[in-house]
Amino acid sequence: MRRVGFIGWRGMVGSVLMERMREEGDFADLPEILFFTTSQIGAAGPDVGRGSAPLADAYDLDVLATLDVIVTCQGGDYTKQIHPELRARGWGGYWIDAASAKRLDRDSVIILDPVNRPVIEAALAEGKRDFIGGNCTVSLMLMAIGGLFREGLVEWVSAMTYQAASGAGAKNMRELLEQMGALHEAVGARLDDPASAILELDRAVTAAMRAEDFPCANFGVPLAGSLIPWIDAQMPNGQSREEWKGQVETNKILGREEQPIPIDGICVRVGAMRCHSQGLTIKLNRDLPVVDAEAIIAEANPWVKLIANDRDETIHHLSPTAVAGSLTVPVGRLRRLAMGDRFLAAFTVGDQLLWGAAEPLRRMLRLLLE
Ligand code: HSE
Repeated sequence: MRRVGFIGWRGMVGSVLMERMREEGDFADLPEILFFTTSQIGAAGPDVGRGSAPLADAYDLDVLATLDVIVTCQGGDYTKQIHPELRARGWGGYWIDAASAKRLDRDSVIILDPVNRPVIEAALAEGKRDFIGGNCTVSLMLMAIGGLFREGLVEWVSAMTYQAASGAGAKNMRELLEQMGALHEAVGARLDDPASAILELDRAVTAAMRAEDFPCANFGVPLAGSLIPWIDAQMPNGQSREEWKGQVETNKILGREEQPIPIDGICVRVGAMRCHSQGLTIKLNRDLPVVDAEAIIAEANPWVKLIANDRDETIHHLSPTAVAGSLTVPVGRLRRLAMGDRFLAAFTVGDQLLWGAAEPLRRMLRLLLE
């Protein structure tokens, strides 16, 4: 592998990818690097330790075709336009993509190597070339309880999610903050007065949220002080597309499309910034003491971290506040549910920009270097 091109490196996921690659010294191991742009051709590219080179045109197929690997965080529209054109002219390089556009194609592999490295290696051996990052919620769920899947213990999973604004994009994160500010403004100085009536403050907040001018151009409805129990498009069967992805992507990642494990639940947007949380009900297919389940979960990968089912431990270590910006994937609230011996509860939190987006891409690139 000689030439690696980066497209969409300035956006939110791309910036996290760049940051992680700098932290890990990845750029130093790449022989030739080319940075692309869709709007500023010829402008100075980023300096990743070997000076800055002019940015190349992300739509120039002649230049793209000289690359051995393309890493793109540019988004689905770019993928849908450029990937087929490049392949049509016989380009045989590796395409590593954060967008979902090609994720479920027969020839694509969803990359999450701490969970499915054997699937990735088999695909490389078969000559597959398209390696696509998974849906963030699915990847974070598998980082958390991948051990139970690996041991063949899971009959089904219900995932009730609490998804952060970042999953909807950078503009949505900004809008969440604007909404929080607008709510604070609605109560103003009355909040500082301990004698003010709480129900009056509540009325002011509710009125602000329902007002025509409340900032919700991106979410469509208020998120701060509220929640949105629908993520992505509507599917004919009543699921949201985010819910539909749970089962389809989990089973593709695990390489078991022929014998899929049912995964379903309700996906909800909440006012967290960049960490997705999930309340899981896991139906085990055999009796398993909770301590054994804990050991299997904890040993599955170096990033998963067991949080004791204890109030203090939980509130301090199992929250978006504790996890944001970190690769650690805590799993806690593990306990047997009242429904029966084989029903296990768990709660997990993960940074959706790291394991949910950028991290599997940089690790795939490293894997190609091995
Ligand atoms: N679809 C996810 C969300 C983000 O909206 O939170 C990326 O997988």
